[in-house]
Amino acid sequence: MRLLLLLASIALTTGWKMPLSPHSLKCPPLYSTKQPKTAKPSFPTLRGTTVNARKIVDSRSAKAYRVRHILLQTEQLAEELLSNFRGGEMLFTEVAMQMSDCELTKEKGGEIGWVDFASASNSEHALDDLLPKNVREALVPGQGMDAKTGDILKIKSSRGVHLIQLCDIMVDVRERGKKRFRAEENKWRTAVDPSNSGKQLHYSIESMGCQMNSLDSERIAGQLESMNILPLDDEDEKKADVVVLNTCSIRDHAEQKVYSYIGPHAKRKRDGESVSIIVAGCVAEQEGEQLLRRCPEVDLVMGPQYANRIADLLEDVGNGNQVVATAPEYIVEDITKPKRDSTTCAWVNIIYGCNERCAFCIVPSTRGVEQSRTAESIIKECEELVKDGYKEITLLGQNIDAYGRDLSPKRKFSDLLNMIGSIEGLERVRFVTSHPRYMSDRVIDAVANNPSVCDSFHIPFQSGNDKVLREMGRGHTVAKYLRIVNSIREKVPDASITADVIVGFPGETEEEFLDTLKLMETVKFDSVNTAAYSPRPNTPAAEWTNQLDEETKSDRLQRINRLNLQHAGERRARMVGRTEKILVEGRNVKKPNQVYGRTGHGYIVYFDGMIEELLGAIVDVKILESSTYSLTGEMLDSL
Ligand code: SAM
Ligand code: F3S
Repeated sequence: MRLLLLLASIALTTGWKMPLSPHSLKCPPLYSTKQPKTAKPSFPTLRGTTVNARKIVDSRSAKAYRVRHILLQTEQLAEELLSNFRGGEMLFTEVAMQMSDCELTKEKGGEIGWVDFASASNSEHALDDLLPKNVREALVPGQGMDAKTGDILKIKSSRGVHLIQLCDIMVDVRERGKKRFRAEENKWRTAVDPSNSGKQLHYSIESMGCQMNSLDSERIAGQLESMNILPLDDEDEKKADVVVLNTCSIRDHAEQKVYSYIGPHAKRKRDGESVSIIVAGCVAEQEGEQLLRRCPEVDLVMGPQYANRIADLLEDVGNGNQVVATAPEYIVEDITKPKRDSTTCAWVNIIYGCNERCAFCIVPSTRGVEQSRTAESIIKECEELVKDGYKEITLLGQNIDAYGRDLSPKRKFSDLLNMIGSIEGLERVRFVTSHPRYMSDRVIDAVANNPSVCDSFHIPFQSGNDKVLREMGRGHTVAKYLRIVNSIREKVPDASITADVIVGFPGETEEEFLDTLKLMETVKFDSVNTAAYSPRPNTPAAEWTNQLDEETKSDRLQRINRLNLQHAGERRARMVGRTEKILVEGRNVKKPNQVYGRTGHGYIVYFDGMIEELLGAIVDVKILESSTYSLTGEMLDSL
């Protein structure tokens, strides 16, 4: 209804004639009429260098854009709409259906399809009637607008004024600055060699680290299966033809773990077996060519930005190359479906990369600059998951509150959350990770106002001392953190709050560490991921001379862990006697007649029941007992 009101107001201010019976719209209300700002052209990241996310798309490797458009008669109307797109909860597709003057695309939400760059300036082009030549030319990277996927551009043509949304880009990763090495002829055999085409190949994937890495592994698995490489059904990994190690480099001696994992597979290869060895993820990005030098049996080293391009890269491997793909890459929309581990809960990326510069963290240099997906493609993916029977979706971003700030016009995470929260049939929405510097009350309101968005927040605080926070480069204070916590407690009183913390950061004194314990006492977190500071390559803090000794770090870690366990237990104890809605996720491996699921807060609950009947169901469970990290209960209703 409010969209219709907005359209009416646009009609009044611009002279646009509102159709008599507009299409019924699903999209939620609109409220901002702020003027669009020009998006910042570049983002400082990758320690010391400035990488322009827009420039990752170059005219050599980019082949085509997939675009939608809205055709309008006046510039004033186009400006008005642009400012409303900036405002938030408005989907391009739905406005196109309402307002576009292009009869050919209006019904399809403005969808035009792929516009290739090679023939953009051809004078006779199949798209001439839809997108005149000057519009197509303006889209070619490096020649026209400095644009990236998700942007909405305004371009005039003989047909009127076009608002053009760049939905996706086709990039040929084989054309990029990735390095190829000719594998030594006949020395070792790789499984993806064309001479093996008659053989059924099997893959294994070992995934380390965060949820984002797990989702990357699911995306890699999806592509391998689309190449007809099947999952290994044998427990013995040594039987896999294609071995993928998806690495994490956030802590400790990640590189060493990689070499020891690869060792046995490298030996198989040296002994004459045909095996393809792939190192993916953050260690791959960090070590690059070095991995090939230390372990020449490896076929492919690929950074996280290539997770959905493994098929293209393996083609190069099949042609007799060893490939290192670690150059900053534009992350195209998912071209294949992930092969998801769960049939109930799914992860969905909404923003890749991170533009922050926390002094301890390697992520910005391994996962690259922020790249937000379009709201349209995120919502489509969520709707498809619901159709496939998924009940819960966790939205992923290293700094999820940054969602949309790289798009032009900019978008807000809270608006996206409201839209996803209103998807019909989606029972539960979660999101990680919130950054206290950027997290707004609007996000807390979205949680409070959308019943399907779980009452659960994950907001790392890293330290409870302002001096340490400053040195970490976190951009927030303890007071700001506590303001967020107070706002959550006020608006969503029963919400769980979890966090990450680092102890033993360079120069941290005993008093500063005690401040961290004090913050933990004040908030009483539901659980905290605790870690002793670990110097990481390519991070500023690793170079500092005021490193603490291992004994001090480990002592502080033990003390903080004790407090963490105490609070986790106290928080869960309050649940005893309550009845909670539990989404059943799996079988209790220790007690096969029991299942487990989670409350909206994220607490694990075990109760009697058969997984064959209950998987994916949401049931009422009375909580009978609590322990530090889990609850047990009994199901009240039977299915
Ligand atoms: N972007 C997310 C965030 O802000 O929390 C995730 C970053 S990182 C993958 C997850 C956690 O790892 C961080 O919150 C931090 O506590 C921890 N971490 C990162 N670098 C670390 C380091 N060098 N030593 C110890 N812990 C670290
Ligand atoms: Fe980004 Fe790492 Fe800080 S992922 S927000 S630089 S903790």
